[in-house]
Amino acid sequence: MPTERFLLNGAEILVGADVEETVRIAAGQFTAAARKLAAEKGSFQVALSGGSTPRKLFETLGAEPFRGLVPWHAVHVYWGDERDVAPGDAQSNYGVARELLLSRVPVPAAQVHRIPAGNTTAVEAAELYQRTLRDRLPLLRDLPRLDYVLLGLGTNGHTASLFPHCPALHEQSRLVTADHVEEVGGWRITLTAGVLNNAGQITFLATGADKAAVVQLVLCGERDTEQTPAQLIAPRQGQLTWILDATAAEKLPRG
Ligand code: 6PG
Repeated sequence: MPTERFLLNGAEILVGADVEETVRIAAGQFTAAARKLAAEKGSFQVALSGGSTPRKLFETLGAEPFRGLVPWHAVHVYWGDERDVAPGDAQSNYGVARELLLSRVPVPAAQVHRIPAGNTTAVEAAELYQRTLRDRLPLLRDLPRLDYVLLGLGTNGHTASLFPHCPALHEQSRLVTADHVEEVGGWRITLTAGVLNNAGQITFLATGADKAAVVQLVLCGERDTEQTPAQLIAPRQGQLTWILDATAAEKLPRG
C-alpha cells in the first residue's frame, strides 16, 4: 500500500516509503490494469520504459506473486523508446526487459514488439515501428491507443527519448521519430507525445533524491516543454500517475 496518496495538478501521486515498496506499488498497478483489461477485452497493450529505474520493477513482475497474477498470455509488449543499438547490447531497453522480465514470464513471442534498432538506421527503425503501432494497436481519435505506458524521468526533464530542445518535441504527425541527441552522443528512437498521450494509463516511475528537483519542476514548475519535455505528458483520455519513493517525492507540496 502507498505510504501516501494525493492528487497534484491533475496527476495521482503514489509514494512508497522506500524503493522496494515503491516498486511493489508499481507492480500492483501494472498487475491490476493487466487483469482488468485482459478480462474486459482480452488484451493488455503496454509500452515499457528504459533506463535503470524499471529494472527492479521488471524483476518484481517476473517473480511471485506478480508472475502468477498477471495474465501474460494477453499481454502485448511495446517500448516507449530505444537506443540505436542491437538487442544484445547492454544499452538496449529491449535487452534489459528481455533479461529481467520477458525471459521469466510466458508472454507469447509474437506479442513482443521491440523497436527494430540495430538492424537498420534509427530513422528507418522509427518508420518501421510506426507501422507496427498502426498495424497492431486499436485507434482512438485516429491514433494508436496503448493501454498502459510506463515512463521514467531523466534529471534533465526528458522522458522516453523526448530530450530538451530536440525535434521530436515538435513532431505533430509522426507516431515514432528518431533524433540524434547530442546530450547522449547518439541516435534515439522515441514514441512522440501524441501517441504517448493517447494511452489509457500513463505511469511515471521515479526514485532517488537526485530526481526530487526535476519531479517538482515537472509537476509544479513553470511550463516550459522545450526545457522540460516530461511536461508534454498529459493523457487526452486516461489517467496520469506518478509512483515515487519518499526521496523523489520530498519536494512536492502536500494538501
Ligand atoms: C531511456 C529511458 C529514459 C529513462 C530516463 C531515466 O531509454 O533511458 O527511456 O527515458 O527513463 O533516462 O533513466 P533512469 O531510470 O536510468 O534514471
